Amino acid sequence: MRSQCFALVRRLLTIATVALLAAGCVGAAQSTPIPAVNAESGLALKGYDPVAYFTNGKPAPGADRFTADWNGARYRFASAENRDRFVAAPEKYAPQYGGYCAYAISINRIADIDPDEWAIVDGKLYLNNNAVAQALWSVDRRGSIAAGDQYWAAVPKVAAPVCFRLAEAAPVATPPGPLRLGAAPAEALAELLQVFACGEESASLAFARLGRSPLEEVARYALAGIAGEERIHERLLRGLRGALPAPPRDRALRRALLRFYHGLAQPDIGLHLASIASLDAAVCAILAALLHPAGVLAEAPAVAAIFRRIHRDEARHVRVARRLAAELVGKEVLAAIAQRTRLDLVALLEPRAAAFERVGVDAGRLLARLGRVPDGLFA
Ligand SMILES: [Fe+2]
Ligand SMILES: [Fe+2]
Repeated sequence: MRSQCFALVRRLLTIATVALLAAGCVGAAQSTPIPAVNAESGLALKGYDPVAYFTNGKPAPGADRFTADWNGARYRFASAENRDRFVAAPEKYAPQYGGYCAYAISINRIADIDPDEWAIVDGKLYLNNNAVAQALWSVDRRGSIAAGDQYWAAVPKVAAPVCFRLAEAAPVATPPGPLRLGAAPAEALAELLQVFACGEESASLAFARLGRSPLEEVARYALAGIAGEERIHERLLRGLRGALPAPPRDRALRRALLRFYHGLAQPDIGLHLASIASLDAAVCAILAALLHPAGVLAEAPAVAAIFRRIHRDEARHVRVARRLAAELVGKEVLAAIAQRTRLDLVALLEPRAAAFERVGVDAGRLLARLGRVPDGLFA
């Protein structure tokens, strides 16, 4: 009887996997990062309202006028009330496993979903690819969920943008090899990368704007070229963040980052370039500290390769930004703007001193250095 039962389950599993394969949307367990949310052209849950499953007890298509962005994807809602509920508690309403098929995840695969194949278990929404997957997942829901939770935690995910929604949703660049970092430095690096990733998102938008500004053609050309490099940095850091453990959600940090990076984007081009030159010179100092031969990143060549590439580009950005800034605004004003940028940056990084120490950087020394605009930056 028992062996007949196993044979039946095995047969059903085969049918379900074939059904998933036939749907053309199942992949093997991932070694390269996948988007944290299953979305088509940025739209999650095929445009269905996640809250309606809980409030109406059935699927309901969302409307284009009620939307909210979360975790790098856009959700639609059937009403403003449902949207507001979601915004207040997205983790409560968003489907499990980023809206990928729960049955597929429970067998360490990745598959799309059908919004009509769903279940709420212990207040969490699960979706499946088709009726067979839904039935198989339901044979032992507790077991499926336990397996799914374990596999999903191990699937590497592409990190969502930290601060800004970028006009160009460039594909992520996966790191060139295994990271070779211990758990503590990996967590510390993930915490620090939020700050720099937000900076690259900001820089990619800022240089795109500056590249269209009323400057002479050579300058516009140089700034547009930098915008392209900033987009590459953003992709590299998003790939790196996806390969590291996700840091705890920190709303206060995100607010501080937005304040800082919005503060750099001043309407006057010269002043904006002055703050960028001062910031990029600081980023060069931070990257040099992280790449120090005695630091933990010396043992992590894939991470070091990304940081070296960004360091090389940022050094050139400093040269271009400071030359243009000096042409546009007086040196005294530049020095004052640069000093303010540095003090704001230090205030942002001070609470992350422990994370610097965990990746082998002397935080006290680094922060003291960052607080001073280097002699000659605008000489
Ligand atoms: Fe950059
Ligand atoms: Fe830069």
